Amino acid sequence: MTMNIKMTVLALACALALAACSDNSSSPAAPGAAPSATASAPMQAPAPAASTPATTPTAPPAAAPATDGKPTAVVTDCATEIEGNDAMQYNVSSIVVPASCKDFKITLKHTGKLPVTAMGHDVVITKASDLKAVDADGMAAGAPNGYVKPNDPRVIAHTSLVGGGETTSVSFAVSKIQGDGPYEFFCSFPGHSGLMHGSISVK
Ligand code: CO
Repeated sequence: MTMNIKMTVLALACALALAACSDNSSSPAAPGAAPSATASAPMQAPAPAASTPATTPTAPPAAAPATDGKPTAVVTDCATEIEGNDAMQYNVSSIVVPASCKDFKITLKHTGKLPVTAMGHDVVITKASDLKAVDADGMAAGAPNGYVKPNDPRVIAHTSLVGGGETTSVSFAVSKIQGDGPYEFFCSFPGHSGLMHGSISVK
């Protein structure tokens, strides 16, 4: 009886020792190499994936209206006054000309303080499809031409170039922007058209 019990205890102890030994020998090897590689990858991948969808759907809806949400120009008696500032921006993103107007006048007020050589603004009206080419040719025409190519048939109307505190204006026949549009207005000072542009239409 006692011998059998002793043998059983020894066998159990031996089995436990082997199990403990095999567990200890296999677990340090696998967790040591594999977890370090797999642990860092899942930690980095889910983090950007989870944070990007979380911020992207909420941020753009809030930001998009802020940039696109500039008002339409206020029109009174077939004329409007818009502004340009030292931050290279117009204060409106669109001008809607009443179809009842024969002629239309746009006045541009530069509300900034920078000189025309550093932050010049004007208003040039072209077809949207002509804007880039007119802009490039205007830059080539240079400062002496106010960054508008002389006698450019693609230029429907344009003001002179002004600096801070100055005002300029231009009048044109509304029929000129009732053709095959859409039409845009933009600033032809080098590098400004990317931020300083908007739509002009007749309704
Ligand atoms: Co400008």
